[in-house]
Amino acid sequence: MQKIFEDYKDILDKAFEVMEKAYAPYSKYHVGACIKTTDGKYHVGANIENASYGLTNCAERSALFHVYSLGYREDDIESMAVVTRGNTLGSPCGACRQVMVELLKNDTPVVIANTSSQAIITNIAELLPFSFTSEDLK
Ligand code: THU
Repeated sequence: MQKIFEDYKDILDKAFEVMEKAYAPYSKYHVGACIKTTDGKYHVGANIENASYGLTNCAERSALFHVYSLGYREDDIESMAVVTRGNTLGSPCGACRQVMVELLKNDTPVVIANTSSQAIITNIAELLPFSFTSEDLK
């Protein structure tokens, strides 16, 4: 587990940093995400809540939408980190998985970690098997 924190120190540090910036007055549950692109740049996102609740944007989508807005595409994404506080691993929600399956490559490493020093490496193929994708629309 410690090795994951060493191997992905760059994106994990940045994800933990942006987690502090989350706007989560309702749930008080802070999530941070960081995406590293193949040009060596880092792009962060946090969860941004809304009084309507339903318009809340998760950290994963905040980061991914920003990266795509800059013109990057799935081949340009090297790795992604998602972090939370507490002692469970905050696995991406169903809505984020559907977005991730569209915007990430199947095998792009997704590192999930928390402030209790727990971490795993997974990818979207593992997180969302048998998914609905653009292939189905052909
Ligand atoms: N949240 C995320 O940012 N990512 C997830 O994958 C799960 C949930 C946020 C949304 C909301 O602001 C808070 O966590 C509680 O659900």
